[in-house]
Amino acid sequence: MLASTAGLVSVVVPTYKESENIRHLVPRICNAMKTEGLAVEVIIVDDDSQDGIEQVVAEFRKEQLPVKLEVRVGQRGLSTAVIHGFELAQGEYLVCMDADLSHSPEKIPELISKLQSGETDFVIGSRYVPGSTTDINWGLLRWLNSKVAILLARPLVSVKDPMSGFFALRRAMFLSAESLSPIGYKIALELLVKSPRKKIVEVPIHFADRKLGKSKLNLAEQLNYIKHLKRLYDYKYDNFSRFFQFCLVGTTGVGVDLTCFNLLLLTLKVFAVARAIAIGIAMTWNFYLNRRLTFNDARRAPWYKQYYKFVGGCLLGAVISWAVSTTLARAGPGSWLFAQIAVLVGIACGTVANFLIAKYVAFR
Ligand code: GDD
Ligand code: MN
Repeated sequence: MLASTAGLVSVVVPTYKESENIRHLVPRICNAMKTEGLAVEVIIVDDDSQDGIEQVVAEFRKEQLPVKLEVRVGQRGLSTAVIHGFELAQGEYLVCMDADLSHSPEKIPELISKLQSGETDFVIGSRYVPGSTTDINWGLLRWLNSKVAILLARPLVSVKDPMSGFFALRRAMFLSAESLSPIGYKIALELLVKSPRKKIVEVPIHFADRKLGKSKLNLAEQLNYIKHLKRLYDYKYDNFSRFFQFCLVGTTGVGVDLTCFNLLLLTLKVFAVARAIAIGIAMTWNFYLNRRLTFNDARRAPWYKQYYKFVGGCLLGAVISWAVSTTLARAGPGSWLFAQIAVLVGIACGTVANFLIAKYVAFR
């Protein structure tokens, strides 16, 4: 990290094939800052667009505009580009914005003033607070999509627009963020979850439609968002998050178990054999999904080693479940209701045991 310069504002702009927009954006940023008497450096992080952006920036440099171009080769990604830009930045204040003129550079001084006054460490240029406007006519589907995306992030951070690509923060807050590892687009969300912070302020913005070039937000990025969310939930809620996913997998496992069991019983007609095979299949199913989902960060070990530990662990869970329920039933008042409760408590104990074994033994 470079030494910081007091009062300087570093505006980081991630770009992929935006040279046409950059031509308009950079002078507007510089003018807006000059008008307010703010010192600025613009850092463009381009993922090897090969669209002539080098020449555009070279022209600006001839005109003495404070702009730097960082070209990353062999790497793509909005969030990682922004982090890279922040690492190169020297300002006391960091700003992130889109290149496509959706975000108004004239709004930057207002964001910065909130940081200067000390009322906050992180200012979001928000599309969803009173006063925000947009000239994009989103279809119902796109609107719904955006609402669901925000809802899914709600337990992580309670702001109206955690998806915004327009925000400003103190350099100190960026430095305090832990182990940043965003996938895809949601860099603000990543920073908000991973920094110990004070108060977040949302400032209403006008979100303009892009006029030049194309959006890079596609289906792959939407899937990245789901992966990113899982990471953030695991980070923030660790065992609760894992346990939730483990239960989700277990629930599908019960469905698989019952389906297989009934099919096997129909064909084999032997209850005990059908039960045993179905349990084996369900256990394998659970193993596969837990390896892919719940504990997907522990996939370095070979699968068969994890598999036999997992299965071994489940066996123990089954025994515990059996033991707890029989002990309870024997000690209790022998009623039908109490027997049901005993069975349920047994299953719950077995599940918790299975989870702990999976986490601390199989997927350690
Ligand atoms: N370096 C780099 N690498 N930049 C990228 C990449 C990449 O792989 N992909 C996109 N960008 C840049 C674009 O060039 C643009 O400057 C900015 O990131 C936003 O990309 P758009 O393609 O215009 O995205 P959008 O308008 O759909 O998304 C905007 O709104 C979303 C909320 O609806 C962004 O602000 C998102 O951050 C925001 O979540
Ligand atoms: Mn855009």
